[in-house]
Amino acid sequence: MIKYLGSKRALVPVLGRIASAVAARTAVDLFTGTTRVAQEFKRRGLVVTATDRATYSQVLSDCYIATDATTVDLAVLDAELAHLNSLPGTPGYVTRTFCEEARYFQPKNGARIDAIRDALEANYRGSPLFPVLLTSLMLAADRVDSTTGLQMAYLKKWAARSYNDLELRRPVLLPGRGFTVGGDVLATIDQLPAVDLMYLDPPYNQHRYFTNYHIWETLVRWDAPPSYGIARKRMDARDPATKSVFNNRQEMPAAMADLLRRARATVVVVSYNDESWIGVDAMTASLREAGHEEVRLLAFDSKRYVGAQIGIFNPSGEKVGSVSHLRNTEYVFIAGPLDAVDAAVAGVG
Ligand SMILES: C[S@@+](CC[C@H](N)C(=O)[O-])C[C@H]1O[C@@H](n2cnc3c(N)ncnc32)[C@H](O)[C@@H]1O
Repeated sequence: MIKYLGSKRALVPVLGRIASAVAARTAVDLFTGTTRVAQEFKRRGLVVTATDRATYSQVLSDCYIATDATTVDLAVLDAELAHLNSLPGTPGYVTRTFCEEARYFQPKNGARIDAIRDALEANYRGSPLFPVLLTSLMLAADRVDSTTGLQMAYLKKWAARSYNDLELRRPVLLPGRGFTVGGDVLATIDQLPAVDLMYLDPPYNQHRYFTNYHIWETLVRWDAPPSYGIARKRMDARDPATKSVFNNRQEMPAAMADLLRRARATVVVVSYNDESWIGVDAMTASLREAGHEEVRLLAFDSKRYVGAQIGIFNPSGEKVGSVSHLRNTEYVFIAGPLDAVDAAVAGVG
């Protein structure tokens, strides 16, 4: 999986257990990012819809969520990957922008990224394998990059891994049905199917994914945009249309409340950050106003449930503890009918 800010790696098994405990058959992963959580739901047999405004997330979702592994001929896929791996490098936009003007990849790998991405555009556009091959390229590039996991800057000294040769590998595809919905959640939320479980993991600060992962946006769009600054970010990063309300301190709380009101799901699970611009009480109030009978806040310390130590809401909604700062703690709100929330909490305990 690509290096991604806010990726819920540690929480994935917990979220999977919640989905199973409430016997969910359908789910939406609303801010899907890497699709890690959506993949866990799909692995457990749920029909999942994954949504995000980032174009690279949509490609990842088309690969892992919308592609049914049983429909893919692995021999053909492996042959295509071998062919793409054998292409000689042809320096182009990536080499110039991200290897010479900046230093995200070694030029030898940049030239191969250029050649492979050009071949994907010319020969695989429209093919069901396109998102699978493009995901494979993104993951391969991520394995040889020279960053700390954000594309706002590259390392002063080449990372050791950047000397490795780019190598496409077969993504681990999952059997089953699933869907991708691209676009801003405030525009797409009403078109989503009503589901048993919705998971929301919004950004909670000013750091924009569009600029943090501008190379992936460009690799997917393949539009050779003008770029600026030392980081060679896309010029359209300055365009208000690429900005998310969830990165705006003033607007975010109201947008989140609006989203929760419009979310059509029996059980709603929200990842929470104790440095968030929304307080615990405000988030609880929004979930209650959205019509949920029961709301609880749980905390997890490296996958272990530690909720009782830091605050939980009793069945009448009174706070019986408070959130305190614990290192490496992930917080999760669970909202829904009382019996479902009870089942969810028992499932993770
Ligand atoms: C914290 S990350 C989600 C990480 C994900 N749960 C994972 O494990 O990989 C937040 C995501 O929200 C997306 N996002 C931000 N604003 C959005 C908006 N207005 N509409 C849709 N997606 C948005 C970002 O592109 C980013 O992928």
